[in-house]
Amino acid sequence: MKNISLNIENAVAQKVVAAYEAQVKACQDKLENGTGEGNDFLGWLHLPSSITAAELSELKATAQVMRENCEVVVVAGIGGSYLGARAVIEALGNSFSAFNGDKTNPTIVFAGHNIGEDYLYELTEYLSDKKFGVINISKSGTTTETALAFRLLKKQCEKQRGKDMAKKVIVAITDAVKGAARKCATQEGYKTFVIPDNVGGRYSVLTPVGLLPIAIAGFDIEQLVKGGADMEKVCGNDVPMMENPSAVYAATRNELYKQGKKIEILVNFNPKLHYMNEWWKQLYGESEGKDNKGIFNAAVDFSTDLHSMGQWIQQGERSIFETVVSIENPDHKLEVPFDEENLDGLNFLAGKRVDEVNKMAELGTQLAHVDGGVPNMRISVPQLNEYYLGQLIYFFEKACGISGYILGVNPFNQPGVEAYKKNMFALLNKPGYEAESKAILARI
Ligand code: PA5
Repeated sequence: MKNISLNIENAVAQKVVAAYEAQVKACQDKLENGTGEGNDFLGWLHLPSSITAAELSELKATAQVMRENCEVVVVAGIGGSYLGARAVIEALGNSFSAFNGDKTNPTIVFAGHNIGEDYLYELTEYLSDKKFGVINISKSGTTTETALAFRLLKKQCEKQRGKDMAKKVIVAITDAVKGAARKCATQEGYKTFVIPDNVGGRYSVLTPVGLLPIAIAGFDIEQLVKGGADMEKVCGNDVPMMENPSAVYAATRNELYKQGKKIEILVNFNPKLHYMNEWWKQLYGESEGKDNKGIFNAAVDFSTDLHSMGQWIQQGERSIFETVVSIENPDHKLEVPFDEENLDGLNFLAGKRVDEVNKMAELGTQLAHVDGGVPNMRISVPQLNEYYLGQLIYFFEKACGISGYILGVNPFNQPGVEAYKKNMFALLNKPGYEAESKAILARI
């Protein structure tokens, strides 16, 4: 079976990348031996190959309970506690299932990733006549956005469905012992899953954080994990650097950064990958953007955004490179019809697959961008399914660990995220923040 593959020929010369071999090897050794910064967060490294059949069965059994008892499941979480699940569910789901009433699978909606009053109001309104359940996902168990949404959802679920049914359809995924989410789950008797201590949020999609919502949505988590496990081998420590796609990607993007390319855009030509872009942005942005360095991660959906950001990419400041995730084969077949009158002048496309038109847009864009001074890397994914998404996820995670170490940062912490929280808590007079409240009020 084919694997996902990386092509860097339009980005950096092979020999320039190959010169990173010793550095990459040192970074891979740090990951493997746990000798680098952030070494208490390396649980993701062999996660796919170490998930047991019993763990997968337990997840599937819980998913089944939710599927049998819920028309809608709300996944409450933020950052790494929701983006992975959303990325996979949106990549694999029917683009119009929200409108055409999918009767075989519960609808999955997301909350706890914003503090929008209108969003939460409209969510409670939408749920008011639905049999719904909730998965409360928070590693710390104290994240304000998620906790606030969960408080609303818990009350509504208990009121609408009764306390006994609420207990059956509310699941918590959190720390084994710490945090308010754990305390609440223990007190209420909810089914719980643990986020391992040594797996950070943005590396947690192949734990219950991602796997439970994905299973509830009706997708094959065994294939997802298998894809991750196979990629673990492809990107293993024993694989020569230039044959290891995650090592090559990590080295290439660091070389481009050194050459002044400060922005990387992740590009897709398939709208179903929009949330994969979002997941990737968090993975790389939180992992590398620190100590006053790091590539700025942005993402675009093409050809949609060729009609907006396309101009900047083609002719703006030359500080950008792109990484295209290209799906080789679509799931469905749709041909452009012939039209007798040809009023729209599109008969030159008649009989062609829509995907052929899309692929020519992709190739044309690549050539134009390379001509315009935008280095281009290309990740080919044979098909958009669970197995290859598992490969893609692990490929990006492994590359991120290596890339962060090449850059010289700790890719597993996110100290900068605390700054806004501290100010928000001070402004909201959270107990324990009295001194900060005083200081911030004096400033405004
Ligand atoms: O990657 C991370 O660690 C973060 O994005 C967290 O996932 C996010 O802040 C949510 O944290 P928690 O799961 O503790 O609610």
